[in-house]
Amino acid sequence: MHTPLKGLLAICLLVAPAAVAPRLNSARPVEADAHDQEPTALQQAMDTLKGGQRALKKLIADPAENQVALMNTLGEMEHAALAALSERPPATEERPEADALWLVGYKRQIATLLQTVLTLEDAALRADADALADAYTQLGEVKKTGHERFRDL
Ligand code: HEM
Repeated sequence: MHTPLKGLLAICLLVAPAAVAPRLNSARPVEADAHDQEPTALQQAMDTLKGGQRALKKLIADPAENQVALMNTLGEMEHAALAALSERPPATEERPEADALWLVGYKRQIATLLQTVLTLEDAALRADADALADAYTQLGEVKKTGHERFRDL
């Protein structure tokens, strides 16, 4: 009765190091490729904004019909803009060491983004197609300026 148990124990002792070793090795990745890494909080916020901007393009065509979807999308974008506000952009090639003034500039631009999203929400509440179209154009401009100034392209 005891012999098979001993055999099993021996097998476990032999196999255990092999099972643990890969985990020990993978705990500290060697030169992980940028694309293998988890997206940062800022990247996640930006990806949400991207999805929102895409969705808006279709939804603003008929604001009365799409009012609920518009409010949901804009709520997510508002949340993402707030998340981006408390993040720091990574230093760029032009700015290897992000200085305080540059960071204030970043925050101001994100604040303009938030303001634009709020303008879109206001227009969506009123189902105002013209105001939505104007604010949507502004959203594209805010993004363009933000990326030109603060993102390494
Ligand atoms: C509608 C507005 C915006 C959209 C749709 C948008 C979209 C994106 C996307 C898709 C990325 C790539 C994220 C990734 O690598 O996974 C990105 C990166 C970035 N964006 Fe935006 N963006 C917007 C506005 C802004 C604004 C206003 C700023 C600056 C004030 C900004 C600063 C950045 C920065 C610094 C990065 C690089 C993040 C990193 O790689 O760590 N973005 N954005």
